Amino acid sequence: MPLRAAAEARNVWKIYRVGNVDFPALRGVSVRIPESSFVVVLGPSGSGKSTLMHLLGALDTPTRGEVIVSNRKVSEMSEDERARLRRDTIGFVFQHFYLINRLTAVENVELPMVAKGLPPRVRRARALELLGLVGLRGKALRKPTELSGGEQQRVAVARALANDPKILLADEPTGNLDTKNAERVMNILLKLNEDLGKTIVVVTHNPEHVRYANYVVHMRDGKIVKVEEGGRGGEEPRWLITL
Ligand SMILES: Nc1ncnc2c1ncn2[C@@H]1O[C@H](COP(=O)(O)OP(=O)(O)OP(=O)(O)O)[C@@H](O)[C@H]1O
Ligand SMILES: [Mg+2]
Repeated sequence: MPLRAAAEARNVWKIYRVGNVDFPALRGVSVRIPESSFVVVLGPSGSGKSTLMHLLGALDTPTRGEVIVSNRKVSEMSEDERARLRRDTIGFVFQHFYLINRLTAVENVELPMVAKGLPPRVRRARALELLGLVGLRGKALRKPTELSGGEQQRVAVARALANDPKILLADEPTGNLDTKNAERVMNILLKLNEDLGKTIVVVTHNPEHVRYANYVVHMRDGKIVKVEEGGRGGEEPRWLITL
């Protein structure tokens, strides 16, 4: 089957201005994320991984170049359209869970559905189902502070899935977890990819995580320096970077 891109960066530059100095965090990055693939992004601290994830997730726009998500140029969208894209098409998981502490787990998962205007009973049922998917059905009424780090991250994964996104972007989702909980979160992402066909992009510092991946993207100094097949095999790794 020919590969198709769920998200794509075309010669993307991101230049941050600090004081009166320009700092290029991304220096001409081109990459296509194949639909329904599992991509792991590796690279030293400061190599531009988070910057790239923010651009692919339409949380930010590039200084130069194009980002295309679901066949649409993000730069040509209005702020409203971008917000809708983030709400409906992209799920984001961060290293620091960012759950709302005064809400219960299930209410946190419901939040993106509130934004979408789903009726309370529908969103509650779906949120509970998603908590079941991450193994937390029994802790739905706990507050984040009453959950372990691993459990909080699983709630964050459930929340990212609330509006059934096609793409799940996870920026060091296991960065604050011990090995066992990290494996658990990675296995949930694996299941979402295998069973539901979600496109998954995970930034990690753990080279062992390449075993979950179809493709491994290596970054250094604001560039992609190599793409290779991951442990689960991926056809034509070169396709990701030949635009
Ligand atoms: N808002 C900002 N303003 C200025 N410079 C920034 C900003 N955000 C990131 N940078 C710089 O851009 C570079 C890339 O940052 P980025 O966060 O993408 O790296 P990273 O690969 O995710 O690193 P880490 O593994 O530490 O998370 C870094 O040198 C960083 O200092
Ligand atoms: Mg980062």
